[in-house]
Amino acid sequence: MIRSLLARLRPLPADPYDGLAGFYDRMMSHVDYRGWAAFVHEIIQGRALQAATVIDAGCGTGTLMSWLRGYGYEVYGFDRSLPMLEAAGGKGIGGTFQADLKDLPLAGSADVLLCLYDTIQYLPPDAVPRFMAQAYGAVRGGGMFVFDVVTERHVKEFWDGYSETDRGGSWRCSRKGWYDPERRIQHTEISLFSGNRRRSCKEHHRQFIYRLDALAAWAREAGWTAAECLHEFTFQPGSEDSGRVHFLLQREEP
Ligand SMILES: C[S@@+](CC[C@H](N)C(=O)[O-])C[C@H]1O[C@@H](n2cnc3c(N)ncnc32)[C@H](O)[C@@H]1O
Repeated sequence: MIRSLLARLRPLPADPYDGLAGFYDRMMSHVDYRGWAAFVHEIIQGRALQAATVIDAGCGTGTLMSWLRGYGYEVYGFDRSLPMLEAAGGKGIGGTFQADLKDLPLAGSADVLLCLYDTIQYLPPDAVPRFMAQAYGAVRGGGMFVFDVVTERHVKEFWDGYSETDRGGSWRCSRKGWYDPERRIQHTEISLFSGNRRRSCKEHHRQFIYRLDALAAWAREAGWTAAECLHEFTFQPGSEDSGRVHFLLQREEP
């Protein structure tokens, strides 16, 4: 009786990434983290910033952190998902701690704060201005905050109505995405099936697709003086026609 009940139980929905943590690096094997770290390094160098300490907000499994350490920075990272941090630890990537973007536990401790790979888009609109203000408090005078977002154009072109299944020897991962243009929310449902064909996790991710001018306005309100928006991984100006943009926010010298 109990056995048949247990067999019918489905795993409870997890916080985004908790269930996927052990699989995340495989899911992201197409991502050029090495190139992304090189771009961040170029941004820092271009501003003649004497950056020693870099903090990666929403660091996930720490791959970017590890490439950035190769440039000599002292890099720390935090994430809300403990399983993601454990996966980083499993690769020997230390210097991580658990924290939420909604309540940054940092004050003047970073030369550069990063929040990359759409991570800020997990924050709902009412949390973004507070995050921008706390990010401002987290970097030292003269320091910088770099984050990226994908644009609505990109989402409509690639993510709305998208579905994909990846297979490996003993696993299968299905992803389905759809966009709600009224609420500007991208939904992604991810199911992971293990070797015995039973679903081992199902997650529903919601990402907020912000207007670039709204992000720039929130940044100014938070005190950031110099703001740039870059097209993709270049130093050309970004716009709503870009797919991904990087925002570079700078805090005035003290
Ligand atoms: C798309 S992944 C990016 C991870 C990493 N930056 C990378 O490039 O691989 C988004 C990450 O943000 C984290 N995250 C989402 N919401 C968060 C929050 N409110 N506070 C801290 N981390 C959060 C997730 O756990 C996940 O690791």
